[in-house]
Amino acid sequence: MAGPLNPSKRKHRFGKAWMHEHVTDPYVREAQRRGYRSRAAFKLLELDQRDRFLRPGIGAVDLGAAPGSWAQVLRERLGPKGRIVAVDLLPMAPIAGVEVVQADFATDEGLAAVEAKLGKTRVDLVVSDLSPNLSGIDAVDQARSVHLAELALEFARMHLREGGDLVVKVFQGSGLAEFQRAVGACFAKTWLRKPGASRDRSREHYIVARGFRGA
Ligand SMILES: C[S@@+](CC[C@H](N)C(=O)[O-])C[C@H]1O[C@@H](n2cnc3c(N)ncnc32)[C@H](O)[C@@H]1O
Repeated sequence: MAGPLNPSKRKHRFGKAWMHEHVTDPYVREAQRRGYRSRAAFKLLELDQRDRFLRPGIGAVDLGAAPGSWAQVLRERLGPKGRIVAVDLLPMAPIAGVEVVQADFATDEGLAAVEAKLGKTRVDLVVSDLSPNLSGIDAVDQARSVHLAELALEFARMHLREGGDLVVKVFQGSGLAEFQRAVGACFAKTWLRKPGASRDRSREHYIVARGFRGA
């Protein structure tokens, strides 16, 4: 149907129910009001409100950064002296003060591109909102999510300074407990969080890990 949300009358790739939820979702409205590129901003803000890992002046890597709302939050919270490197497969509109690497983080070439950008500097924080393209087959999506989370942990082990922090998305299901144990072995404290902005129907959870024990 033609209307302000669909003037061309072309069949929208999102259904009516999705569109209704989108326009009535308070997080979407608040994201629009505050100029965030997506409602995902509030997941990071909520996690930080509880665990306080965003501090002015720190260096951070944002894995799976597009369209860029976490990078916007990092930019606000880390202040002018903070360094932010944002990585995604997809192109991302620039954000002043954010260094963007467009690369597939799951490949050796992609990882090398991120490492080239960082040089020898270790960072204080790695955040990963990496999500697989959903196939709709639970077991496949679960395995892909855990794999991306493992890559983020491996990256954190190589590039975090001692005492640094990791925030990593992973789906609840097979492999989560083992992954949590692997994170726990590397950090002083870990918590499994489900922010209010994360939809109930989504299996996504976030592990917040503080106090990297060192490489
Ligand atoms: C949920 S979105 C991230 C949203 C982002 N945190 C924000 O606030 O705007 C997940 C992102 O992970 C990216 N991604 C998935 N696999 C990737 C990979 N292998 N390398 C780089 N990015 C990847 C996707 O392209 C997607 O943009």
